[in-house]
Amino acid sequence: MRWRQAYWDENFIQDKKRYGEGPLIPYEDDFREIKIDLPENILRRSSTGLPDLPEIEVVRHFIRLSQMSYGVDTGPVPLGSCTMKYNPKIADFLTQSPAITDVHPLQDEDTVQGLLEIIYLTERWLSEIVGMDKCSFQPPAGAAGELSGAIMIKRYHHDKGQMRDEMLIPDSAHGSNPASAAMAGFKVIRIPTSYKGTVDLDALRSVVSDKTAGIMLTNPNTLGIFEEDILEISDIIHKTGGLLYYDGANLNGILGIARPGDMGFDIVHLNLHKTFSSPHGGGGPGGGVVCARGELVDYLPRPLIMKEGSRYYWDYNCERCIGRISAFYGNIIPVIRTFIYIASLSGRGLREAGEIAIINTNYFIKRLMEKPYYQLPYDPSRPRKHEVVFSAKKILQETGVSAEDISKALLDEGFHAPTMYFPLIVDEALMIEFTETESRDVLDQYAEALNRIAEVAYKDPSLVKSSPRNTSVRRLDYVRANHPKTLAPTKKFLDKIW
Ligand SMILES: Cc1ncc(COP(=O)(O)O)c(C=O)c1O
Repeated sequence: MRWRQAYWDENFIQDKKRYGEGPLIPYEDDFREIKIDLPENILRRSSTGLPDLPEIEVVRHFIRLSQMSYGVDTGPVPLGSCTMKYNPKIADFLTQSPAITDVHPLQDEDTVQGLLEIIYLTERWLSEIVGMDKCSFQPPAGAAGELSGAIMIKRYHHDKGQMRDEMLIPDSAHGSNPASAAMAGFKVIRIPTSYKGTVDLDALRSVVSDKTAGIMLTNPNTLGIFEEDILEISDIIHKTGGLLYYDGANLNGILGIARPGDMGFDIVHLNLHKTFSSPHGGGGPGGGVVCARGELVDYLPRPLIMKEGSRYYWDYNCERCIGRISAFYGNIIPVIRTFIYIASLSGRGLREAGEIAIINTNYFIKRLMEKPYYQLPYDPSRPRKHEVVFSAKKILQETGVSAEDISKALLDEGFHAPTMYFPLIVDEALMIEFTETESRDVLDQYAEALNRIAEVAYKDPSLVKSSPRNTSVRRLDYVRANHPKTLAPTKKFLDKIW
């Protein structure tokens, strides 16, 4: 595939030449001038700074920017652990309906019964999919779901009069797990991974005590390996009075096939922006639904969506709950997208999505391993689920080309890079996840590109190390690119970091 990204020397829109006198959005004086009778207190006091441009200028501006970018509509984004799914266009269309966009969160519930019905049905379906009793839509992202769950666990033990301050977390976990546990006030106890790529049971047994509040696990884990000892893990933790928390970022690997509730988990978070097809990357909005079963439902963030007779309503009753996590309803657009995704696939379709994701991963592994360049750590004979982690350590040792260099070279092939250097237990990690909508052709091309890059690395490492060359920007200065100043960048500043 030939690929060269566009480069436009595009000004920020506020720096563009103005055509008219006024700003794009009128403010105080303009409203007075055009004699629109609006209450004083809602009039804008100052200009937005947006120029008055003809439509064509605005359209060209954004099309040019999109040509310098890359997303799931351009090509695969196989970022392991991120589950970057195709975002169905029907969901874009329906979520832009004024019936959704014009609703105000303070509207009387009787005027938004249709929306509440969608939220209610989605809540019922998600509870069923994960085997929990009730879900709260309050957390806006996975990490916020984790923090909610960790606080719920803390409050639960507190109410039982128990001083349990240790949270067990495997060393393959996403960094947000230990971060959430620590933010909730727990000591984090790290559990090593065994040679099989799963939780080391002996190590687990050796640290479990009456101080154990619980364990945070994702299954399949971040190596893409199913924690087959999960029932035993559940037994070990529950026998000491601890709880099991499920990080749902990897739900795609068991979607419609197995349920966290049946594995013994007590609290679950889901990433609607991963498993249920909401667009993500670039800041959301996400959905980190948190679900619980039994007594733990009382601790879920409020409000909860309820139905009485044929009427839907929010239940704000909060005797033991951990309170609110977001304002109003939480992020509603990902919930509606989830509703559309589940309704269009049905139960059988969801299972098929999970199965195809798993088949894609294992087909890709076979293709990549036709050549000897990349290693599959932790028992290569075990099939992976929805994602796989390869190591480029051998290539680094023999050629000086790192996982990062390989990822940059993939950009030159017209592909998005995989997740790099995570999980931390794999050296020079390349973590790759193809979702259910990627075709066999895409998998073939990606495997061939990775092997081709490795071949180039052995012949002329400088070629890989100097990539990317075909993209609109070359290697960024990461420190500067992540600096808070980039939140309000000036063109001069961006010129410097490019
Ligand atoms: C395994 C895992 N857990 C939790 C999270 C956190 O989710 P979010 O980014 O929505 O906060 C991620 C995010 O990539 C993840 O991969």
